[in-house]
Amino acid sequence: MGSQIVHNSQKPHVVCVPYPAQGHINPMMKVAKLLHARGFHVTFVNTVYNHNRFLRSRGSNALEGLPSFRFESIPDGLPETDMDATQDITALCESTMKNCLAPFRELLQQINAGDNVPPVSCIVSDGCMSFTLDVAEELGVPEVLFWTTSGCAFLAYLHFYLFIEKGLSPLKDESYLTKEYLDDTVIDFIPTMKNLKLKDIPSFIRTTNPDDVMINFALHETERAKRASAIILNTFDDLEHDVVQTMQSILPPVYSVGPLHLLANREIEEGSEIGMMSSNLWKEEMECLDWLDTKTKNSVIYINFGSITVLSVKQLVEFAWGLAGSGKEFLWVIRPDLVAGEEAVVPPEFLTETKDRSMLASWCPQEKVLSHPAIGGFLTHCGWNSILESLSSGVPMVCWPFFADQQMNCKFCCDEWDVGIEIGGDVKREEVETVVRELMDGEKGKKMRQKAVEWRRLARGATEHKLGSSVVNFETVISKYLVGQK
Ligand code: UDX
Repeated sequence: MGSQIVHNSQKPHVVCVPYPAQGHINPMMKVAKLLHARGFHVTFVNTVYNHNRFLRSRGSNALEGLPSFRFESIPDGLPETDMDATQDITALCESTMKNCLAPFRELLQQINAGDNVPPVSCIVSDGCMSFTLDVAEELGVPEVLFWTTSGCAFLAYLHFYLFIEKGLSPLKDESYLTKEYLDDTVIDFIPTMKNLKLKDIPSFIRTTNPDDVMINFALHETERAKRASAIILNTFDDLEHDVVQTMQSILPPVYSVGPLHLLANREIEEGSEIGMMSSNLWKEEMECLDWLDTKTKNSVIYINFGSITVLSVKQLVEFAWGLAGSGKEFLWVIRPDLVAGEEAVVPPEFLTETKDRSMLASWCPQEKVLSHPAIGGFLTHCGWNSILESLSSGVPMVCWPFFADQQMNCKFCCDEWDVGIEIGGDVKREEVETVVRELMDGEKGKKMRQKAVEWRRLARGATEHKLGSSVVNFETVISKYLVGQK
């Protein structure tokens, strides 16, 4: 990206507002850092809950920021607690939608009333925090919405209203939740998307409740997206050109600006103050990298279910014995809150049996892990950041989608991008064992690895200095929507 020196008095001031979950905070932090590198004064707004979690996990000066990169917080409206876990997503969506507008408006008024920072000149907000649009309109400043999902999932969300019009959602009763019905019901009305089944659509559609909070949330947020100045997606042209083009007729201009972690790695020096600002809510266990250094190329399978997925004890045990049975070396990240309502503990016999070829951690530096040469495969819940990070590192995947956009991401990984093998939701140790072996040593795994390496090349191309499509798009968003618009 071209560098631009901006004098303090003229600095544009961007307020970045992520949705308060790890998979949204991470990519928003990349956007914030990239804008800071382009001369913006940045205010990054967390919720009080996450602000406190950052302070607890990273130390009391973790959010001091810099004079030109400040952290602020607003309450999310949920009862106060000092838990250290991802909040209930349904409750959080309902609460942020209802309760965050007033404190956000007040925060921006306070910022603008002060005289030590430039006035707020633009907002970049998560697409799931669309209450921010009201404040942007009141202040007369442009707002760019950032949908952190894949393009394919976002396009599906944009067509949720059609599922309702066609009587496909809500489902009439629980008897429609069978594998047969979900696998066999063809969805052929989302433009550019072929061979879709009801099972592939973002999970919220498969409800029997006519007042379902998440369906209504998706309808509300996608409708409001039309009011943004522009929309950015963490994807790249070669990967999702057609779906992004399809959105252009429904929405304000949509730009692919990803993979953002590659863009940020290229633009921001790792050891610099900004480079070292972490957006991780859990502390990373860096020893994983030392352990990987002792392993040979492509020999280790990495297992991580992101920040939200919860497993039952039974599922955890099936994964454990499946990994043991595969005979492969593995790095498995088990978040403290991974198992619903219980401590996430694997069987002691499993630990004894696999201790010479495994490493367990509770949180890791995932981007670095995935780009480590020892990693040969990734068993993932298909969170969009995880998929992009895997593709960008040339790592093929075993896909076990959990909720939200992940079913759609899984479908595209397996059938369109040819980098994934899906395993059933009702996980069985024999299946885990077979699929992990296939991924790491089989013919199909070999083909997927070649394909993933090809996606890595294209992802790097999209973020190439000055010429990459995502670099050019990011520049356009800055010059057209974020500066000189007030
Ligand atoms: C969620 C949704 O699941 C996802 O589909 C949506 O698009 C964004 O929000 P999450 O489930 O946490 O996110 O998964 P993912 O999108 O993969 O994001 C997790 C992030 O945390 C990634 O950036 C990953 O690198 C990071 N991470 C995860 C770590 O740094 N260390 C870990 O041990 C685990």
